[in-house]
Amino acid sequence: MAPDPIPWHDEPMQRTIAVLNQKGGVGKTTTTLGLASAAADAGRRVLVVDLDPQAASSWVLGIEPGTGSVADPLLEGSKRAGPHLQRSTWSDLIDVLPGSPALQELEGGTSKRLRKLIGSVSDGYEAVLIDCPPSLGNLTRSALIAARHALVVVEPSSLGLRGIGGVADVIDDVWESSNPDLELGGVILNRVPAVSREAERRIDELARIVSRQAIWQPSIPQRVIFNEAVGARRPIHSYGSRATEPIEVFDRLWRRVRGLVNR
Ligand SMILES: Nc1ncnc2c1ncn2[C@@H]1O[C@H](COP(=O)(O)OP(=O)(O)OP(=O)(O)O)[C@@H](O)[C@H]1O
Ligand SMILES: [Mg+2]
Repeated sequence: MAPDPIPWHDEPMQRTIAVLNQKGGVGKTTTTLGLASAAADAGRRVLVVDLDPQAASSWVLGIEPGTGSVADPLLEGSKRAGPHLQRSTWSDLIDVLPGSPALQELEGGTSKRLRKLIGSVSDGYEAVLIDCPPSLGNLTRSALIAARHALVVVEPSSLGLRGIGGVADVIDDVWESSNPDLELGGVILNRVPAVSREAERRIDELARIVSRQAIWQPSIPQRVIFNEAVGARRPIHSYGSRATEPIEVFDRLWRRVRGLVNR
């Protein structure tokens, strides 16, 4: 008789996705926000966990600085995230565990605390999206310990690909040492020019590192409206016909995320 499958000791992590890259400014926050916007537009509940001390995604989601942060329960050693959740001004369907500069104090060590914290509230959401800081330090590692799926955001340029091997190594390392359930969910390409031999070469190079199937379609085009939406603290879906293509891209990326978390 076949042995029983290993039971999910904490099944909620199936829904948890870490959005990462050590490189700054590649679009981790844009991706997290675009997915949250698409989820709410589709009537799905999501939680955004902002692990970046710069707290950009919290601010864009309408959270005012100084109103509490995910750093608070982590520093207190509390296992209950509930009291620290805030509702985004975007939608009743989006909750936020906000970031704050206090997260810097946690670069020294959070280990499994974030995982327990997210596990205490993740039941109520279809997906939990963790927006990581631009580093491979302890905060990003704690996101990878908490997550089932790693989603790497990459720009297909020579500078954009530098360090991608290091990202893959950290995912491997966390998988081996602390989280055997962790998988590379996919690689999302951001700021892809419509026609570019250089970008195509870089995508080929990337496919040799992570496999071609790991690279998600569609990629995210370069569009000024993403900048505008951040400045106005608005979801991309609120722009309607002014953002037809970005909206369509994030609707399709969200469907892929649903495919991962509902597998
Ligand atoms: N596809 C795009 N088209 C136009 N602007 C973009 C695009 N993607 C990101 N940006 C802009 O580039 C800047 C950096 O993007 P974003 O904040 O998403 O990157 P990040 O990886 O989260 O950065 P950090 O490492 O600092 O957290 C932002 O101003 C964002 O609006
Ligand atoms: Mg960011």
